[in-house]
Amino acid sequence: MAHERERRSVACLDSGGSSSAASGYVELLDQAGHLHPPLNMPRELIVIGGGQHARVLIDVARSCSDRWQVIGYLDEHVVEETAERFGVRWLGNDHQSIAAHPRASFILGIGGLAAPERARIARLYEGRSFATLVARDASVSPTAIVADGAVVLARAIVNTGARVGAHAIVNSGAIVEHDVELGDYVHVGPGVAIGGGARIGAGTHIGLGACVRDHVRVGKNVVIGMGAAVVRDVPDDATVVGVPAVERG
Ligand SMILES: CC(C)(COP(=O)(O)OP(=O)(O)OC[C@H]1O[C@@H](n2cnc3c(N)ncnc32)[C@H](O)[C@@H]1OP(=O)(O)O)[C@@H](O)C(=O)NCCC(=O)NCCS
Repeated sequence: MAHERERRSVACLDSGGSSSAASGYVELLDQAGHLHPPLNMPRELIVIGGGQHARVLIDVARSCSDRWQVIGYLDEHVVEETAERFGVRWLGNDHQSIAAHPRASFILGIGGLAAPERARIARLYEGRSFATLVARDASVSPTAIVADGAVVLARAIVNTGARVGAHAIVNSGAIVEHDVELGDYVHVGPGVAIGGGARIGAGTHIGLGACVRDHVRVGKNVVIGMGAAVVRDVPDDATVVGVPAVERG
């Protein structure tokens, strides 16, 4: 987990957020020491990718219009459905097209690919700031830490002391209980429940509706099948399914 880049989750909370230092605004000070944009102005957001996951993120950001102004999405080609549904701009696929937005934050709108590929794409934007996007109806404890680039979607819960790694996805309705640690690029699927103190290694994908027992350790790049009940530790790179979950042969 990229601890040095962690910060409290403040992307779209009804309270209007937190201090400038905690929210990362400090990097936007101008020479006179003024914040740009001011704290009451939405920040520019560029979505990397234009497909299904990107549409979910655009939807979340749009519903947080006090915090985010979606500038557009980056993709190889125009994605008609995304353009039609949101009227959001296609910015091309290269850095030239984003030069006009030096202060924009980025978010990885690619959910379907394996973690190493998502990481490769994120690295292309090294040096740019990544947003942390939290749906308005998600619940994130003020004592939880959500790293840059992570997203917490509708009605998800991130409880006290939990840590969510960089570019992780906590999908709709998932429950990340107290003191859980999610590594970078972890994808917690819709409706998943992770018990208190469990640790999930980087790049692991937890399928729809699965449960992970409290204090269990799940390795890196593991796939946990839909509906599985993980009751004991899982080694790196394994695929486990079923109740109780066992390694697929
Ligand atoms: C576990 C998983 C990755 C396996 O995918 P796959 O390799 O394509 O597997 P297949 O669909 O070809 O199925 C292979 C076998 O595993 C079984 N299987 C698949 N998923 C299973 C699951 N979640 N639990 C138990 N068995 C499962 C299939 O019934 C099939 O069994 P069979 O060989 O006896 O017929 C996948 O089923 C899964 O759970 N994906 C997560 C999806 C998800 O959460 N999406 C979130 C979108 S937001």
